Amino acid sequence: QTPIASTNYDRLEASAKLLLNPAAYNYAAGGGGLEKTVVANREAFDHWRIVPRVMRDVLPARNLSTTLFGRTYPAPIVMAPVGVQTLFHPDGERATSKVFGELGLPYTLSTASSTGFADVAASNGLGNPRWYQLYWPSDDDLTRSYLQTALDNEYEVLVVTLDTWDLGWRTRDLDQGFFPFILGVGVQIGLEDPVAHQKLGFNPLAPNATQEQKQTAALYHTVVTSRGISPVWRNITKLREVWGERPIVLKGIQSVEDAKLAVQYGVQGIILSNHGGRQVDGAIGSLDALPAIVEAVKGKITIGFDGGIRSGSDIFKAIALGADFIQVGRPILWGLAHEGEKGVRHVIKSLLAEFEITVGLAGYAALKDVQVGALVKNTWTNG
Ligand code: FNR
Repeated sequence: QTPIASTNYDRLEASAKLLLNPAAYNYAAGGGGLEKTVVANREAFDHWRIVPRVMRDVLPARNLSTTLFGRTYPAPIVMAPVGVQTLFHPDGERATSKVFGELGLPYTLSTASSTGFADVAASNGLGNPRWYQLYWPSDDDLTRSYLQTALDNEYEVLVVTLDTWDLGWRTRDLDQGFFPFILGVGVQIGLEDPVAHQKLGFNPLAPNATQEQKQTAALYHTVVTSRGISPVWRNITKLREVWGERPIVLKGIQSVEDAKLAVQYGVQGIILSNHGGRQVDGAIGSLDALPAIVEAVKGKITIGFDGGIRSGSDIFKAIALGADFIQVGRPILWGLAHEGEKGVRHVIKSLLAEFEITVGLAGYAALKDVQVGALVKNTWTNG
């Protein structure tokens, strides 16, 4: 019997663990090194507490809608780019993109997706908001080709992940010898790309392609997209050559200086993220980095946030501290493990419901009223 998908994060993760093979579970649950930053991301939420107000004129249904990059959404919740989703259920990205499309919330497709641009666009649905996350290849021709295919399939916001130009020291994966990309899981975008076919001299998806050719193509994709060379600020102009003036959002920002540089280089958004604690172990908890960045750049650029969002109350705190939107990562994967689409729908609807209840019970009628004054700094415990 399939374990039920709980409405509580810890129980949800525990039952997903029973459903998944250990390598896939550890791949998703794990982080860099001693996993101090995975923990710090969670602890950061305990540094703030909500102070509820009573007897206020709160609407029966709270208005959680918001406008991001010119589109209005029912809530400030975005699917975090997460690769290799078929590890968690055979329907993978098809299931997650379908549910986000249904709810009218933005879906971000990862460059490390186990499903291609067109298939995800089809399951996400015509006219629904799709964002594309780039792992920036060292090869400019390949970068241009990925961006063009994204535009052809109506992905409308480009999210550029900057914290993973080399893979962090992920000890669970090292110990298990588990590297899905090298096995070929999560390279569909690379396997389908026409420029990649030219460079390789063959089409790894052709009916007569050999196993060895597929393996070579998987390695090629992995090496050019995480190649141990850090991208540099001035190359943002190269992205603009294809992406034009459409929104570009830089993901992986944790420093005030980098947030200011993002404004200077004219991108439309940033996402505060430390990749769910999977890259620099010992890095600051993501929510702890938010207040100073909000103070420096709020209003000049759209501010997204991820890292440790597990409940509606967590969403409330991130929004109150000044995030314009938040992204959900691991909870969706654990949902996916529970019967695919069904589990994903359950998890995201639960988060939406708890967020709405929290906004109302804290005394607010609309998202715009959720401000830092709703919180108090927790100074009475070490938490
Ligand atoms: C990720 N993340 C990620 N980020 C990205 O830009 N591209 C990607 O392909 C992936 N892949 C990926 C796989 C898995 C299994 C995880 C857990 C995470 C990072 C993701 O977008 C986000 O930053 C974190 O997941 C946020 O942390 P929490 O909320 O999941 O703890």
